[in-house]
Amino acid sequence: MSLLQRSRSLLLASAVAGVVVASGFALVGTAEAATTLGASAAQTGRYYGAAIAAGRLGDGTYTGILNREFNSVTPENEMKWDATEPSQGRFTYTNGDRILNQGIAMGAKVRGHALLWHQQEPGWAQSMSGSALRSAMINHVTQVATHYKGKIYAWDVVNEAFADGGSGARRDSNLQRTGNDWIEAAFRAARAADPAAKLCYNDYNTDGVNAKSTGIYNMVRDFKSRGVPIDCVGFQSHLGTSIAGDYQANLQRFADLGVDVQITELDVAQGGNQANIYATVTRACLAVARCTGITVWGIRDSDSWRTGENPLLFDNSGNKKAAYTSVLNALNAGGTSSPSPSISTPPSPSTSTSPQPGGGCTATVSLNSWTGGFVASVKVTAGAALNGWTVTVALPSGSTVTSTWSATNSGTTGSVGFRNVSYNGQVAAGGSTEFGFQGTGAGPTATPVCTAG
Ligand code: XIL
Repeated sequence: MSLLQRSRSLLLASAVAGVVVASGFALVGTAEAATTLGASAAQTGRYYGAAIAAGRLGDGTYTGILNREFNSVTPENEMKWDATEPSQGRFTYTNGDRILNQGIAMGAKVRGHALLWHQQEPGWAQSMSGSALRSAMINHVTQVATHYKGKIYAWDVVNEAFADGGSGARRDSNLQRTGNDWIEAAFRAARAADPAAKLCYNDYNTDGVNAKSTGIYNMVRDFKSRGVPIDCVGFQSHLGTSIAGDYQANLQRFADLGVDVQITELDVAQGGNQANIYATVTRACLAVARCTGITVWGIRDSDSWRTGENPLLFDNSGNKKAAYTSVLNALNAGGTSSPSPSISTPPSPSTSTSPQPGGGCTATVSLNSWTGGFVASVKVTAGAALNGWTVTVALPSGSTVTSTWSATNSGTTGSVGFRNVSYNGQVAAGGSTEFGFQGTGAGPTATPVCTAG
Protein backbone atom coordinates (compact mmCIF):
# COMPACT_ATOMS: atom_id res chain seq x y z
CA MET A 1 0.00 0.00 0.00
CA SER A 2 1.35 3.43 -0.80
CA LEU A 3 1.84 5.90 2.00
CA LEU A 4 -0.97 8.00 0.61
CA GLN A 5 -3.34 5.06 0.45
CA ARG A 6 -2.35 4.07 3.92
CA SER A 7 -2.91 7.49 5.26
CA ARG A 8 -6.43 7.38 3.74
CA SER A 9 -7.18 4.03 5.29
CA LEU A 10 -5.96 5.35 8.62
CA LEU A 11 -8.48 8.12 8.43
CA LEU A 12 -11.23 5.69 7.59
CA ALA A 13 -10.24 3.36 10.38
CA SER A 14 -10.27 6.11 12.92
CA ALA A 15 -13.49 7.61 11.57
CA VAL A 16 -15.39 4.45 12.44
CA ALA A 17 -13.50 3.86 15.66
CA GLY A 18 -15.83 5.76 17.93
CA VAL A 19 -16.35 9.06 19.65
CA VAL A 20 -14.25 11.02 22.04
CA VAL A 21 -14.87 10.01 25.60
CA ALA A 22 -13.78 12.39 28.32
CA SER A 23 -11.56 10.59 30.76
CA GLY A 24 -12.27 10.85 34.46
CA PHE A 25 -8.98 10.63 36.29
CA ALA A 26 -7.85 12.86 39.10
CA LEU A 27 -5.47 15.59 38.14
CA VAL A 28 -2.55 16.55 40.27
CA GLY A 29 -2.17 20.30 40.18
CA THR A 30 1.21 21.79 39.42
CA ALA A 31 2.60 24.94 40.94
CA GLU A 32 3.08 27.10 37.89
CA ALA A 33 1.93 26.85 34.32
CA ALA A 34 4.91 26.37 32.02
CA THR A 35 4.76 28.10 28.66
CA THR A 36 6.31 25.58 26.28
CA LEU A 37 5.40 22.01 25.44
CA GLY A 38 8.68 20.55 26.66
CA ALA A 39 8.71 22.45 29.94
CA SER A 40 5.06 21.61 30.60
CA ALA A 41 5.61 17.92 29.93
CA ALA A 42 8.72 17.96 32.13
CA GLN A 43 6.59 19.03 35.09
CA THR A 44 5.35 15.44 35.28
CA GLY A 45 8.65 13.87 34.24
CA ARG A 46 7.68 13.47 30.60
CA TYR A 47 9.06 14.72 27.31
CA TYR A 48 7.32 16.42 24.41
CA GLY A 49 9.13 15.76 21.16
CA ALA A 50 9.00 16.32 17.44
CA ALA A 51 10.14 14.36 14.40
CA ILE A 52 12.65 16.55 12.63
CA ALA A 53 14.33 16.50 9.24
CA ALA A 54 18.03 17.24 8.73
CA GLY A 55 17.16 19.15 5.55
CA ARG A 56 15.09 21.67 7.48
CA LEU A 57 17.62 22.56 10.17
CA GLY A 58 18.76 25.57 8.15
CA ASP A 59 15.26 27.10 8.34
CA GLY A 60 15.30 29.66 11.13
CA THR A 61 11.56 29.63 11.80
CA TYR A 62 11.67 25.85 12.08
CA THR A 63 14.66 25.67 14.40
CA GLY A 64 13.31 28.58 16.43
CA ILE A 65 10.17 26.61 17.27
CA LEU A 66 12.16 23.41 17.73
CA ASN A 67 14.60 24.93 20.21
CA ARG A 68 11.86 26.74 22.10
CA GLU A 69 9.19 24.07 22.42
CA PHE A 70 10.57 20.54 22.36
CA ASN A 71 12.73 18.41 24.65
CA SER A 72 12.92 15.28 22.50
CA VAL A 73 13.66 14.72 18.82
CA THR A 74 13.15 11.81 16.43
CA PRO A 75 14.79 11.65 13.00
CA GLU A 76 11.94 11.60 10.47
CA ASN A 77 13.97 9.54 7.97
CA GLU A 78 17.67 9.87 8.77
CA MET A 79 18.20 6.75 10.88
CA LYS A 80 16.15 4.40 8.71
CA TRP A 81 17.83 1.45 7.01
CA ASP A 82 17.98 3.02 3.55
CA ALA A 83 19.61 6.12 5.03
CA THR A 84 22.16 4.42 7.27
CA GLU A 85 23.22 1.45 5.11
CA PRO A 86 22.59 2.45 1.48
CA SER A 87 24.74 -0.38 0.22
CA GLN A 88 25.47 -3.52 2.17
CA GLY A 89 28.14 -3.01 4.79
CA ARG A 90 28.63 0.70 3.97
CA PHE A 91 27.19 2.80 6.75
CA THR A 92 26.46 6.50 6.43
CA TYR A 93 25.61 8.44 9.54
CA THR A 94 26.01 12.03 8.36
CA ASN A 95 22.34 12.99 8.51
CA GLY A 96 21.53 10.78 11.46
CA ASP A 97 24.36 12.45 13.34
CA ARG A 98 22.98 15.88 12.45
CA ILE A 99 19.72 14.97 14.16
CA LEU A 100 21.59 13.49 17.11
CA ASN A 101 23.74 16.60 17.47
CA GLN A 102 20.72 18.88 17.24
CA GLY A 103 19.14 16.88 20.06
CA ILE A 104 22.31 17.00 22.14
CA ALA A 105 22.65 20.76 21.58
CA MET A 106 19.08 21.20 22.82
CA GLY A 107 19.64 18.97 25.84
CA ALA A 108 16.82 16.86 24.42
CA LYS A 109 16.20 13.14 24.38
CA VAL A 110 16.81 11.46 21.04
CA ARG A 111 14.49 8.66 19.95
CA GLY A 112 16.08 6.34 17.42
CA HIS A 113 13.78 5.48 14.52
CA ALA A 114 13.84 2.79 13.22
CA LEU A 115 16.29 -0.12 13.10
CA LEU A 116 14.09 -2.52 11.12
CA TRP A 117 11.04 -1.76 8.99
CA HIS A 118 9.70 -3.39 5.84
CA GLN A 119 9.45 0.09 4.28
CA GLN A 120 12.46 2.23 3.44
CA GLU A 121 14.59 -0.90 3.26
CA PRO A 122 17.55 -0.23 0.97
CA GLY A 123 17.21 -1.87 -2.47
CA TRP A 124 19.93 -4.42 -1.75
CA ALA A 125 18.02 -5.70 1.31
CA GLN A 126 14.68 -5.73 -0.53
CA SER A 127 16.09 -8.31 -2.89
CA MET A 128 17.43 -10.54 -0.11
CA SER A 129 15.77 -13.38 1.77
CA GLY A 130 16.38 -16.26 4.13
CA SER A 131 19.50 -16.63 6.23
CA ALA A 132 21.44 -14.04 4.21
CA LEU A 133 18.79 -11.43 5.01
CA ARG A 134 18.64 -12.56 8.64
CA SER A 135 22.37 -11.99 9.09
CA ALA A 136 22.27 -8.71 7.19
CA MET A 137 19.41 -7.52 9.33
CA ILE A 138 21.08 -8.44 12.62
CA ASN A 139 24.32 -6.86 11.43
CA HIS A 140 22.40 -3.70 10.62
CA VAL A 141 20.86 -3.56 14.09
CA THR A 142 24.23 -4.21 15.72
CA GLN A 143 26.15 -1.66 13.67
CA VAL A 144 23.65 1.20 13.95
CA ALA A 145 22.87 0.65 17.62
CA THR A 146 26.62 0.47 18.31
CA HIS A 147 27.29 3.70 16.41
CA TYR A 148 24.71 5.49 18.56
CA LYS A 149 25.47 3.56 21.75
CA GLY A 150 24.77 5.54 24.90
CA LYS A 151 23.22 8.44 22.99
CA ILE A 152 19.70 7.18 22.28
CA TYR A 153 16.91 7.34 24.84
CA ALA A 154 14.73 4.77 23.09
CA TRP A 155 15.08 2.85 19.84
CA ASP A 156 12.21 1.74 17.66
CA VAL A 157 13.89 -1.62 17.12
CA VAL A 158 11.09 -2.97 14.94
CA ASN A 159 8.50 -0.83 13.20
CA GLU A 160 5.09 -1.89 11.84
CA ALA A 161 5.48 -5.67 11.84
CA PHE A 162 1.80 -6.44 12.39
CA ALA A 163 -0.92 -6.66 9.74
CA ASP A 164 -3.92 -4.37 9.58
CA GLY A 165 -7.39 -5.80 9.81
CA GLY A 166 -8.82 -8.45 12.07
CA SER A 167 -6.17 -11.15 12.05
CA GLY A 168 -3.92 -9.83 14.81
CA ALA A 169 -1.14 -11.58 12.90
CA ARG A 170 2.24 -10.55 11.65
CA ARG A 171 2.47 -8.67 8.37
CA ASP A 172 4.08 -10.52 5.50
CA SER A 173 7.50 -9.13 4.52
CA ASN A 174 10.88 -10.46 3.59
CA LEU A 175 11.91 -9.88 7.21
CA GLN A 176 8.98 -11.92 8.52
CA ARG A 177 9.79 -14.71 6.04
CA THR A 178 13.22 -15.15 7.67
CA GLY A 179 11.32 -16.73 10.59
CA ASN A 180 8.85 -15.60 13.23
CA ASP A 181 11.68 -15.06 15.72
CA TRP A 182 13.13 -12.17 13.69
CA ILE A 183 11.67 -9.60 16.07
CA GLU A 184 13.11 -11.11 19.22
CA ALA A 185 16.45 -11.67 17.48
CA ALA A 186 16.48 -7.96 16.62
CA PHE A 187 15.68 -6.94 20.21
CA ARG A 188 18.43 -9.17 21.60
CA ALA A 189 20.95 -7.75 19.13
CA ALA A 190 19.91 -4.20 20.01
CA ARG A 191 20.23 -4.86 23.74
CA ALA A 192 23.68 -6.37 23.29
CA ALA A 193 24.80 -3.36 21.21
CA ASP A 194 23.34 -0.58 23.38
CA PRO A 195 22.23 -1.84 26.78
CA ALA A 196 21.32 1.68 27.95
CA ALA A 197 18.71 2.41 25.26
CA LYS A 198 15.11 1.55 25.92
CA LEU A 199 14.00 -0.86 23.23
CA CYS A 200 10.57 -0.26 21.71
CA TYR A 201 8.20 -1.96 19.31
CA ASN A 202 6.36 0.74 17.29
CA ASP A 203 3.19 0.54 15.17
CA TYR A 204 0.10 2.39 13.84
CA ASN A 205 -3.63 1.64 13.89
CA THR A 206 -3.07 0.54 17.48
CA ASP A 207 -4.92 3.48 19.02
CA GLY A 208 -7.45 1.48 21.00
CA VAL A 209 -8.14 -2.12 21.88
CA ASN A 210 -8.44 -3.83 18.49
CA ALA A 211 -7.25 -6.99 16.78
CA LYS A 212 -3.95 -5.45 15.72
CA SER A 213 -3.10 -3.93 19.10
CA THR A 214 -4.09 -7.19 20.77
CA GLY A 215 -1.73 -9.14 18.49
CA ILE A 216 1.06 -6.81 19.60
CA TYR A 217 -0.04 -7.05 23.23
CA ASN A 218 0.23 -10.84 23.07
CA MET A 219 3.71 -10.58 21.58
CA VAL A 220 4.87 -8.20 24.32
CA ARG A 221 3.41 -10.43 27.01
CA ASP A 222 5.19 -13.41 25.51
CA PHE A 223 8.48 -11.49 25.30
CA LYS A 224 8.22 -10.43 28.92
CA SER A 225 7.47 -13.97 30.07
CA ARG A 226 10.48 -15.37 28.22
CA GLY A 227 12.88 -12.59 29.12
CA VAL A 228 13.19 -11.17 25.60
CA PRO A 229 14.47 -7.63 26.17
CA ILE A 230 11.68 -5.14 25.41
CA ASP A 231 11.17 -1.92 27.36
CA CYS A 232 8.53 0.06 25.55
CA VAL A 233 5.78 0.14 22.97
CA GLY A 234 5.29 3.08 20.63
CA PHE A 235 1.82 4.09 19.49
CA GLN A 236 2.26 6.12 16.33
CA SER A 237 -1.18 7.72 16.57
CA HIS A 238 -1.62 9.05 13.06
CA LEU A 239 -5.20 10.03 13.78
CA GLY A 240 -8.17 11.15 11.72
CA THR A 241 -11.18 13.11 12.88
CA SER A 242 -12.08 10.91 15.86
CA ILE A 243 -10.31 8.88 18.51
CA ALA A 244 -11.16 5.50 20.01
CA GLY A 245 -12.92 5.75 23.37
CA ASP A 246 -10.50 3.21 24.84
CA TYR A 247 -7.32 4.98 23.74
CA GLN A 248 -6.14 5.43 27.33
CA ALA A 249 -7.28 1.97 28.44
CA ASN A 250 -5.21 0.49 25.63
CA LEU A 251 -2.08 2.34 26.74
CA GLN A 252 -2.75 1.20 30.28
CA ARG A 253 -3.06 -2.49 29.40
CA PHE A 254 0.37 -2.39 27.76
CA ALA A 255 1.84 -0.50 30.72
CA ASP A 256 0.43 -3.20 32.98
CA LEU A 257 2.61 -5.73 31.15
CA GLY A 258 5.63 -3.90 32.54
CA VAL A 259 6.69 -1.78 29.56
CA ASP A 260 6.78 1.96 29.08
CA VAL A 261 4.43 3.38 26.47
CA GLN A 262 5.07 6.39 24.28
CA ILE A 263 3.05 8.29 21.70
CA THR A 264 5.59 8.30 18.90
CA GLU A 265 4.25 9.93 15.71
CA LEU A 266 1.21 11.95 16.66
CA ASP A 267 -0.61 13.93 13.99
CA VAL A 268 -4.35 14.55 13.72
CA ALA A 269 -6.34 15.49 10.63
CA GLN A 270 -7.49 19.08 10.79
CA GLY A 271 -11.22 19.26 11.33
CA GLY A 272 -13.63 20.34 13.99
CA ASN A 273 -12.11 17.99 16.51
CA GLN A 274 -8.40 18.46 16.04
CA ALA A 275 -7.77 20.43 19.23
CA ASN A 276 -9.97 18.06 21.28
CA ILE A 277 -8.29 14.97 19.94
CA TYR A 278 -4.87 16.39 20.71
CA ALA A 279 -6.03 17.17 24.25
CA THR A 280 -7.49 13.68 24.66
CA VAL A 281 -4.22 12.04 23.64
CA THR A 282 -2.29 14.32 25.99
CA ARG A 283 -4.57 13.55 28.93
CA ALA A 284 -4.40 9.83 28.21
CA CYS A 285 -0.61 9.86 28.37
CA LEU A 286 -0.64 11.96 31.53
CA ALA A 287 -3.03 9.51 33.17
CA VAL A 288 -0.81 6.49 32.52
CA ALA A 289 2.22 6.57 34.80
CA ARG A 290 4.34 4.59 32.36
CA CYS A 291 3.51 6.84 29.41
CA THR A 292 6.86 8.63 29.28
CA GLY A 293 6.27 11.12 26.49
CA ILE A 294 4.65 12.27 23.28
CA THR A 295 6.22 13.00 19.90
CA VAL A 296 4.43 14.89 17.12
CA TRP A 297 5.39 13.90 13.59
CA GLY A 298 6.67 17.26 12.39
CA ILE A 299 6.51 20.88 13.49
CA ARG A 300 4.50 23.04 11.05
CA ASP A 301 1.69 21.77 8.85
CA SER A 302 3.94 22.45 5.89
CA ASP A 303 6.52 20.03 7.34
CA SER A 304 4.03 17.16 7.58
CA TRP A 305 4.15 13.97 5.51
CA ARG A 306 0.32 14.19 5.40
CA THR A 307 0.28 16.84 2.74
CA GLY A 308 -2.87 18.93 2.75
CA GLU A 309 -4.24 17.59 6.03
CA ASN A 310 -2.73 20.28 8.27
CA PRO A 311 -2.31 17.76 11.10
CA LEU A 312 0.26 19.50 13.31
CA LEU A 313 0.42 22.09 16.11
CA PHE A 314 1.90 25.02 14.13
CA ASP A 315 0.57 26.50 10.90
CA ASN A 316 2.63 26.97 7.77
CA SER A 317 3.97 30.27 9.08
CA GLY A 318 4.94 28.78 12.43
CA ASN A 319 2.03 30.26 14.40
CA LYS A 320 0.55 28.27 17.28
CA LYS A 321 -2.77 26.67 16.35
CA ALA A 322 -5.73 26.00 18.64
CA ALA A 323 -4.44 22.44 18.92
CA TYR A 324 -1.20 23.79 20.41
CA THR A 325 -3.06 25.66 23.12
CA SER A 326 -5.18 22.65 23.98
CA VAL A 327 -2.07 20.48 24.36
CA LEU A 328 -0.29 23.07 26.49
CA ASN A 329 -3.31 23.49 28.75
CA ALA A 330 -3.70 19.73 29.13
CA LEU A 331 -0.01 19.36 30.00
CA ASN A 332 -0.24 22.16 32.53
CA ALA A 333 -3.29 20.59 34.15
CA GLY A 334 -0.90 17.84 35.26
CA GLY A 335 -1.32 14.12 35.76
CA THR A 336 0.44 11.14 37.24
CA SER A 337 4.16 11.61 37.49
CA SER A 338 6.35 9.57 35.21
CA PRO A 339 8.49 7.61 35.28
CA SER A 340 6.88 6.17 38.37
CA PRO A 341 8.34 3.29 40.29
CA SER A 342 6.86 -0.04 39.27
CA ILE A 343 4.01 -1.31 41.36
CA SER A 344 5.94 -3.03 44.05
CA THR A 345 5.44 -5.66 46.66
CA PRO A 346 8.12 -5.38 49.31
CA PRO A 347 10.02 -8.55 50.06
CA SER A 348 8.61 -10.46 52.99
CA PRO A 349 10.21 -9.55 56.34
CA SER A 350 11.96 -12.90 56.62
CA THR A 351 13.87 -12.13 53.45
CA SER A 352 15.48 -9.06 54.84
CA THR A 353 16.42 -10.65 58.14
CA SER A 354 17.98 -13.89 56.98
CA PRO A 355 18.75 -15.46 53.66
CA GLN A 356 17.02 -18.77 53.50
CA PRO A 357 19.08 -21.58 52.15
CA GLY A 358 16.66 -24.14 50.80
CA GLY A 359 13.93 -21.49 50.89
CA GLY A 360 12.39 -22.95 47.79
CA CYS A 361 14.38 -21.20 45.08
CA THR A 362 17.77 -19.95 44.02
CA ALA A 363 18.77 -17.06 41.78
CA THR A 364 21.84 -16.44 39.66
CA VAL A 365 22.82 -13.26 37.87
CA SER A 366 24.62 -12.76 34.60
CA LEU A 367 25.91 -9.26 34.05
CA ASN A 368 26.60 -7.18 30.99
CA SER A 369 28.47 -4.11 32.28
CA TRP A 370 29.98 -1.04 30.73
CA THR A 371 31.41 2.16 32.15
CA GLY A 372 28.57 3.74 34.05
CA GLY A 373 25.93 1.07 33.69
CA PHE A 374 24.88 -2.54 33.45
CA VAL A 375 22.19 -4.98 32.46
CA ALA A 376 21.57 -7.91 34.80
CA SER A 377 19.74 -11.05 33.68
CA VAL A 378 18.55 -13.11 36.63
CA LYS A 379 17.59 -16.75 36.46
CA VAL A 380 15.21 -17.97 39.15
CA THR A 381 15.26 -21.73 39.67
CA ALA A 382 12.59 -23.48 41.73
CA GLY A 383 13.46 -26.17 44.29
CA ALA A 384 9.92 -27.21 45.09
CA ALA A 385 7.16 -25.80 42.88
CA LEU A 386 6.84 -22.02 43.31
CA ASN A 387 3.71 -19.97 43.60
CA GLY A 388 5.33 -16.55 43.64
CA TRP A 389 8.90 -15.52 44.36
CA THR A 390 10.97 -12.56 45.43
CA VAL A 391 14.64 -12.04 44.64
CA THR A 392 16.59 -9.56 46.76
CA VAL A 393 19.65 -8.07 45.12
CA ALA A 394 22.28 -6.01 46.94
CA LEU A 395 23.42 -3.13 44.75
CA PRO A 396 26.73 -1.39 45.39
CA SER A 397 26.33 2.13 46.73
CA GLY A 398 25.94 4.66 43.94
CA SER A 399 24.09 2.17 41.69
CA THR A 400 20.45 2.66 40.74
CA VAL A 401 17.95 0.44 38.96
CA THR A 402 16.51 2.32 35.97
CA SER A 403 14.27 -0.31 34.41
CA THR A 404 13.06 -3.82 35.10
CA TRP A 405 11.45 -6.44 32.90
CA SER A 406 9.48 -9.55 33.84
CA ALA A 407 9.46 -8.50 37.52
CA THR A 408 8.48 -5.50 39.63
CA ASN A 409 11.00 -3.89 41.90
CA SER A 410 10.60 -2.28 45.29
CA GLY A 411 13.19 0.45 45.60
CA THR A 412 15.96 1.25 43.17
CA THR A 413 19.06 1.48 45.37
CA GLY A 414 20.70 -0.58 48.10
CA SER A 415 18.81 -3.79 48.78
CA VAL A 416 16.28 -4.06 45.95
CA GLY A 417 13.48 -6.63 45.95
CA PHE A 418 12.26 -8.05 42.64
CA ARG A 419 8.89 -9.75 42.75
CA ASN A 420 7.38 -11.99 40.08
CA VAL A 421 4.71 -10.57 37.80
CA SER A 422 1.40 -12.32 37.10
CA TYR A 423 2.63 -14.60 34.36
CA ASN A 424 5.91 -15.91 35.81
CA GLY A 425 5.18 -16.51 39.50
CA GLN A 426 4.37 -20.17 39.08
CA VAL A 427 7.43 -22.25 38.37
CA ALA A 428 7.39 -26.04 38.40
CA ALA A 429 9.78 -27.92 40.71
CA GLY A 430 13.22 -27.83 39.10
CA GLY A 431 12.03 -25.34 36.47
CA SER A 432 13.25 -21.80 35.98
CA THR A 433 12.20 -18.37 34.74
CA GLU A 434 14.15 -15.21 33.99
CA PHE A 435 13.82 -11.53 34.64
CA GLY A 436 16.18 -8.64 34.22
CA PHE A 437 16.98 -5.11 35.15
CA GLN A 438 19.12 -2.30 33.96
CA GLY A 439 20.95 0.21 36.08
CA THR A 440 23.42 3.01 36.29
CA GLY A 441 26.65 2.54 38.23
CA ALA A 442 28.21 -0.84 38.91
CA GLY A 443 26.24 -4.08 38.78
CA PRO A 444 25.63 -6.38 41.75
CA THR A 445 28.44 -8.69 42.80
CA ALA A 446 26.86 -10.73 45.62
CA THR A 447 24.64 -13.72 44.90
CA PRO A 448 21.01 -12.64 45.25
CA VAL A 449 18.65 -14.20 47.76
CA CYS A 450 15.56 -15.94 46.40
CA THR A 451 12.49 -16.45 48.57
CA ALA A 452 9.44 -18.50 47.67
CA GLY A 453 5.93 -17.16 48.17
C1 XIL B 1 7.40 8.93 6.94
C2 XIL B 1 8.13 10.24 6.76
O1 XIL B 1 7.45 11.23 7.49
C3 XIL B 1 8.19 10.63 5.31
O2 XIL B 1 9.04 11.76 5.13
C4 XIL B 1 8.75 9.46 4.48
O3 XIL B 1 8.66 9.79 3.11
C5 XIL B 1 7.97 8.20 4.75
O4 XIL B 1 7.98 7.92 6.13
N1 XIL B 1 5.24 5.52 10.04
C6 XIL B 1 6.55 5.67 10.41
C7 XIL B 1 7.34 6.81 9.90
O5 XIL B 1 7.04 4.89 11.25
O6 XIL B 1 8.70 6.48 9.73
C8 XIL B 1 6.78 7.35 8.63
O7 XIL B 1 7.50 8.53 8.27
C9 XIL B 1 5.31 7.63 8.79
C10 XIL B 1 4.56 6.35 9.10
